[in-house]
Amino acid sequence: MRPKVFVSRKMRDAGLNLVLEFCDAEVWDEEMPPSRDVLLERVRGVDGFLSMLTDRVDAELLDAAGPQLKVVSNHAVGFDNVVVADATARGIPVGNTPGILTDATADIAFALLLAAARRIVESEKYIREGKWKTWHPSMLLGMDLAGRTLGLVGFGRIGRAVAKRAVGFDLRIIFYDPTAEPEFGAVKMNSLEELLHEADFVSVHTPLNESTRHMVNADFLSKMKPNAVLVNTSRGPVVDQVALYEALKAKKIFAAGLDVTDPEPLPLVSPLLTLDNCVIVPHIGSASERTRDAMARLAAENLIAGLKGERLPHCINPEVYENRR
Ligand code: GLV
Ligand code: GLV
Repeated sequence: MRPKVFVSRKMRDAGLNLVLEFCDAEVWDEEMPPSRDVLLERVRGVDGFLSMLTDRVDAELLDAAGPQLKVVSNHAVGFDNVVVADATARGIPVGNTPGILTDATADIAFALLLAAARRIVESEKYIREGKWKTWHPSMLLGMDLAGRTLGLVGFGRIGRAVAKRAVGFDLRIIFYDPTAEPEFGAVKMNSLEELLHEADFVSVHTPLNESTRHMVNADFLSKMKPNAVLVNTSRGPVVDQVALYEALKAKKIFAAGLDVTDPEPLPLVSPLLTLDNCVIVPHIGSASERTRDAMARLAAENLIAGLKGERLPHCINPEVYENRR
């Protein structure tokens, strides 16, 4: 009998077709995700669940699925939506999609850095609003990159890919990440404070967990240089948005570029949307055709490996294998 799975959003055919070939799959085909109640009902009795970052995977959901559940495959590299300990406690391997979205996400971090530094979105709006009357020596001035310092908070795959790009822009690169070694000429800082003190551009590349939630708070922002630019492509809750709004409004920092917000979607009444020095895009870090094809394929491969009882190509809780006999 073909294994039964639930796929909580229609993903790219590159991966979906693999799932459909191997499984008896129900695929959620609406633009909005299933509500919690519907999700809990749809996973009942499945052998595998292919989840999106908008689905919370926790004890309640795993128990709603039932004891036959063999695998959860998360269509994302980040897994703050998964309570990993709950899956591990039930012996369920959880897959994610690292590596393949590194370049796409680093590109977006760099695009946001440039857009915030050179006021691209504000300038575009300036034209559309009919404000462009002439050329002026002090019109829409931004911040140069060359010779300045880029501070990377988190120097994992994506942080390093941003560093690689920064070399070509003649940025000096520093990073704070106790577990990483220098690469691409980046200099390791001993503390976050030291990084904030020196960096003209600060780009955040940490996972979201209890130690990084609201890491970018009023204190963090007050330690940044007055002309500094903040970029966040990690997860929205890493930034305290009230503190960020106040810092941007009072021009305590120059600008910010955000690919992620808290919550998502960002409500239209968010005060951040009233600021010209805040560029916001809707969590599109990995949103290119090739990258989403690769993510869908890897998510399918993780799912199918789990259904076959094989080790997942990318498993976030490999301890489930150690506990097995
Ligand atoms: C996207 O945010 C991801 O974690 O893949
Ligand atoms: C400010 O960045 C300047 O480049 O003058």
